Amino acid sequence: LSSIRVDVSGVEVGTQLTVKWLGKPVFIRRRTEAEIEEAKSVDVSSLPDPIAQNENLTGDVPATDENRALDESGEWLVQMGVCTHLGCVPLGDAGDFGGWFCPCHGSHYDTSGRIRKGPAPRNLPVPVAEFVDESTIKLG
Ligand code: FES
Repeated sequence: LSSIRVDVSGVEVGTQLTVKWLGKPVFIRRRTEAEIEEAKSVDVSSLPDPIAQNENLTGDVPATDENRALDESGEWLVQMGVCTHLGCVPLGDAGDFGGWFCPCHGSHYDTSGRIRKGPAPRNLPVPVAEFVDESTIKLG
């Protein structure tokens, strides 16, 4: 598995960076307080996909926002930019849940990248990722 390092020093709160990794888009979002709060307030048992889908964690842990965010504060969310329905690239800052919206067949993801409405069966996958210094994220 090839890894890459991404400089995130220029990413403002409330915006995201999309990088290509292993031929696929990866969304690196620096979330606002409101986005984090919204993500944390959701009852996991009500989610279509209650599993975190986070490759950094072992086992089928629940899809709490804490189990999906990269850092302790929850400011950073890293996920594959590939709709779990048929693989289109969802749009950011869009959809009924303030997260991502896939225009291909109408899947709505929340601010934690969890599927909330539409045909997609699973949450956007969180790839292996970590901060290697305060402004660099390593993918893979
Ligand atoms: Fe995203 Fe079908 S590919 S909704």
